[in-house]
Amino acid sequence: MFTKRHIISTREFSKEEIDYVLSRAEELEVYARAQMPGERGKKSDLLEGKILANLFYEPSTRTRFSFETAMKRLGGEVINLSSTEASSVAKGENLADTIRIVSGYCDVIALRHPQEGASRMAASFSSVPIINAGDGAGQHPTQTLLDLYTIKREGLLNDLRIALIGDLKYGRTVHSLAYALSLYGATLFFVSPEGLRMPEEIKMDLKEAGAEVFESLDIKEVIKEVNVLYVTRIQKERFPDPAEYNKVAGTYRINTELIKENEDVIIMHPLPKVDEIDAEVDGTKNAKYFLQAFYGVPVRMAVLSILLGIG
Ligand code: NCD
Repeated sequence: MFTKRHIISTREFSKEEIDYVLSRAEELEVYARAQMPGERGKKSDLLEGKILANLFYEPSTRTRFSFETAMKRLGGEVINLSSTEASSVAKGENLADTIRIVSGYCDVIALRHPQEGASRMAASFSSVPIINAGDGAGQHPTQTLLDLYTIKREGLLNDLRIALIGDLKYGRTVHSLAYALSLYGATLFFVSPEGLRMPEEIKMDLKEAGAEVFESLDIKEVIKEVNVLYVTRIQKERFPDPAEYNKVAGTYRINTELIKENEDVIIMHPLPKVDEIDAEVDGTKNAKYFLQAFYGVPVRMAVLSILLGIG
């Protein structure tokens, strides 16, 4: 499969490779559930002796923890850089040097960085596989794999009709996801404020790949057309001008009133959510985002074991 390769962008995956990750994740899910009643004691030493380095230069809860949990539940170990203040980054060390050094200490690196292209650059200095855990407004490929896993587990992966909602300009999760969905023949509805539309070049690539793409400013226009609402946070930290953020903050809000328009729709979100989904939605059968976050563990187990050549 893709042993020893870097994972930088979903554009570099074939459908067969993605299908393989998803089926491996299904096999490994039992180990992710090790703490749940009835599943206790299901332990694995698949990744024993292997070390993951988590290098996070931007905030993260789910991605960092689920990489760490995935590694540990498979018997591997983790070293962490979670605060740039506490490392040599604060002394002015550049990313290339950090990668050269850290890749000598571990078997695989998960890297999150505010600069688009950072992971690709890091890959050229690394002696071990780099996993892009988010590069600025660029890509977030392992998020996409867990998004697809969630959609598959809901029985919706083929002939999917999905609305990607919110910040389509700066949102790396939707960039990665849109490319991967084009491999599955999905129909894509992009819903965003005018200034946060999906970048033109991505739309062109998707159309070239044969995807059907529609754009709208209003969720109400598309909710009856889709099986999935994939909601995203407006990426405040990426706005050069805070006044521009204030203009679009709070544009979309999913509430139970809206869901009445399509009672079967499932609602996903890469999280963290801020105000785009009302808390009353959390307890509905439509809300899948907490389950989606859990699926980060089996999917990252699959990615890590394949990359390390043990799966
Ligand atoms: C996303 C990210 O970091 O791009 N979070 C995540 O990894 N689940 C989404 C976001 O920050 O809005």
